[in-house]
Amino acid sequence: MPTLVNVLCIGAGYVGGPTMAVIADRCPHARVNVVDVNAARIAAWNSDSLPIFEPGLDEVVGRARGRNLFFSTDIECGIRDADIIFVSVNTPTKTFGEGAGRAADLQYWEKTARQILAHADGDKVVVEKSTLPVRTAQAMDRILNSNARGLRFEVVSNPEFLAEGTAIQDLLQPDRVLIGSHETPSGLRARRAVADLYASWVPRERIIQSNLWSAELSKLTANAFLAQRISSINSISALCEVTEADVDEVAYAIGTDSRIGPRFLKASVGFGGSCFHKDILNLVYIAESYGLTEVARYWESVVRMNDWQENRFVRRMLASMFNTVAGKRIALFGFAFKANTGDTRESAALAVTRQLLADRAHVVISDPKALDNARIDTESLGGHIELEPDPYRAASGAHAIAVMTEWDLYKTLDYGRILASMERPAFIFDGRNILDHQRLFELGFNVFPIGKTPLRHV
Ligand code: UDX
Ligand code: UDX
Repeated sequence: MPTLVNVLCIGAGYVGGPTMAVIADRCPHARVNVVDVNAARIAAWNSDSLPIFEPGLDEVVGRARGRNLFFSTDIECGIRDADIIFVSVNTPTKTFGEGAGRAADLQYWEKTARQILAHADGDKVVVEKSTLPVRTAQAMDRILNSNARGLRFEVVSNPEFLAEGTAIQDLLQPDRVLIGSHETPSGLRARRAVADLYASWVPRERIIQSNLWSAELSKLTANAFLAQRISSINSISALCEVTEADVDEVAYAIGTDSRIGPRFLKASVGFGGSCFHKDILNLVYIAESYGLTEVARYWESVVRMNDWQENRFVRRMLASMFNTVAGKRIALFGFAFKANTGDTRESAALAVTRQLLADRAHVVISDPKALDNARIDTESLGGHIELEPDPYRAASGAHAIAVMTEWDLYKTLDYGRILASMERPAFIFDGRNILDHQRLFELGFNVFPIGKTPLRHV
């Protein structure tokens, strides 16, 4: 029986919450405390209505909570008891000062490091779970090990690769777990302690160990490569629309090349989520700060292509709807940045909403899980916005529907009934290519998929 290990996680968000729930579930010898400054969030983690929607999360939390998984706001006590401290506080893009719009805002991370220092009464392993710029661990090392009390803190990088909507599956069966540390005896010991936790359920050969800087940079690089694939196929979608090629056929044809592979080749209105923009812009900022201008421009173009794809989607709506949407009711099907999550951070739907409002459309937003977040995101926008959970009611009286999120629900609606309630001519802009376009056309819709020739009656 392994000896009992006390694990603390600071930050009970989309990453910290599910990750700790799975560690507690799979490591009966670990006592896992999750703390957060946000008391409402902690109360929700302790209730039947968890603060985030994630398939499978309720079951995992249900099994471990109260046994070896605890949620609280008592950060000080949590720090004192812990052997291993995961830090999973948010690191948004800076909105002010030097590096605004690109660099990561590390104020919460640094504040947390100082809290650890203030309340620790023994040596600790501190694990970076938040995505951080390369070499942040060095700054953390300096802050933590500047103490005069002889305490020793070992900083380890263990970046998270889970995707929202499949977080529990990604945690239970990860492609790999990456753990980076200093290659000193105490660094290697800390690395081993973290690896031993994961080894309770992850095969050892999938636990990759590296130096600290490789681990930090790998997270940014993985997200940059994934986003680059989407921007690449989205750039080709524009070419498909003018050449009568079909982007799904092109994606299938190239994806069957085993060197390329099939995933992350789905053309869309644009990628969103809390990581892709932030991490690429961070990579850009780091490259610039080392004087690597070409590297910076190269990766920046992945984000620029995404902005362009979002704009292009709205321009196409305008052009096909007789160059005006002023006063027209437009139903957005979906507001989450992808299906199976209520998260709306950086969602393409928000960019589309802003532009439609600028053109004075009446925007009706529908989504099965994301309307609470949509309300917060749109409250300062002004203009004519409605939130309507029922897609039939959202589309009633509309001139157009735009599919923003690939929820299964939208594939099985009764589009005959929907068409009967809409203004004519009726338009559907399928920003996710999930609907049966030919059938919608036959029903009477004018159909505009991404990267395919439109099917139109007008
Ligand atoms: C995480 C990582 O932190 C981010 O770097 C990564 O790129 C994506 O995933 P996420 O879990 O999605 O972020 O963030 P969020 O849901 O905002 O959770 C962060 C939590 O930390 C919040 O609940 C916040 O209240 C808490 N927090 C923040 C603290 O407890 N203390 C602080 O000082 C700051
Ligand atoms: C991503 C990474 O996948 C994950 O490893 C990392 O830890 C955090 O960032 P996430 O943001 O949850 O995860 O979502 P992801 O599934 O990667 O999708 C990001 C965006 O790309 C979504 O808006 C999605 O709809 C879009 N997307 C994805 C496409 O447009 N086309 C695709 O083929 C795949």
